[in-house]
Amino acid sequence: MSLIQGWMPPTRERWETLVGAWQLFYPVLGNLQWLVNWYGMGKTSVASRFNIPGRIAWFTMESPGFLTLLYIMKTLPAQHGITDLPWQNRVLAGLFVIHYSYRAVLFPYLQPSMSPIHVLVWAAAITFQICNATSLGCWLAAYGPTTEEAWLSTGPFATARFVIGIGIFYFGLAGNFFHDEELREIRRAEQRRQDKLAKEQGKEKKENAVAKHYRIPQAGLFKYMLYPHYLCEWIEWLGFWIAAGWGCVPARAFLVNEVATMFPRAVKGKWWYVERFGEEKVGKKWAVLPGIY
Ligand SMILES: NC(=O)c1ccc[n+]([C@@H]2O[C@H](COP(=O)([O-])OP(=O)(O)OC[C@H]3O[C@@H](n4cnc5c(N)ncnc54)[C@H](OP(=O)(O)O)[C@@H]3O)[C@@H](O)[C@H]2O)c1
Repeated sequence: MSLIQGWMPPTRERWETLVGAWQLFYPVLGNLQWLVNWYGMGKTSVASRFNIPGRIAWFTMESPGFLTLLYIMKTLPAQHGITDLPWQNRVLAGLFVIHYSYRAVLFPYLQPSMSPIHVLVWAAAITFQICNATSLGCWLAAYGPTTEEAWLSTGPFATARFVIGIGIFYFGLAGNFFHDEELREIRRAEQRRQDKLAKEQGKEKKENAVAKHYRIPQAGLFKYMLYPHYLCEWIEWLGFWIAAGWGCVPARAFLVNEVATMFPRAVKGKWWYVERFGEEKVGKKWAVLPGIY
């Protein structure tokens, strides 16, 4: 059953328009961050009555993506007379859901603390999620390859390419989780230190004591750069694109739009680290692309 007849899920024509606009306009929007100094999230969040508590904001802004994709996978094939999608479509949809089950549900749950997120950043993230999941979901559900033959014609060694792509995806996912975990460990360690101090001094444990506690992370690829979790996420979606085939425009648009959004964040994040801890302490760490920036 359609949520909005002809619009959600969209007809092929509307989907093509969305994908065209998505790959054209979003990189421009992402790059606007170079011109605007404000960013109401994370390290640069400031007190505002338009802030949403970090965990609630993160959960509600990241969940629409995988929910939209699941909804499209459930409804669109039947509307096009497709009764059984090839395994490749189901595997790729599954990977998307695995990633966002971590990012939307587990991530805010695991973070020892999260800065508040301004409602404008929250709304931009929801827009990203719905556009991206519609772009990719419709391709997977009906408008991309929907037979084994169609998959085999996506390029030479299609199955081997698919398997390699999935391997790269999991490598990126593991790296992303590992480096997210290193950031969590900074706050957990500080929490343990504060709890120990409070115990020694016979004081009550402080609520939210590690909010906005930052250190320069050092483990894993943090030795060489400040945003390896971003780089690993890009590797993840590069693997997804390889698996889907170079001709999969929605997978390419996803990666390009992520880089367009996150690269300015990483560069500005490096400026933030230098301002906060000093050039000497940050040393020769790259922002996110070793050897480039
Ligand atoms: N930002 C994006 O546009 C975007 C887009 C797609 C995917 N992602 C993925 O989502 C995840 C989180 O992204 P993010 O932009 O929020 O990353 P981030 O700015 O590095 O923050 C990640 C978390 O770690 C904490 N943190 C950051 N730096 C820290 C430090 N030096 N010491 C101690 N704690 C620190 C943050 O706390 P505070 O909240 O208190 O700052 C936040 O809870 C990443 O894995 C990223 O790949 C992000």
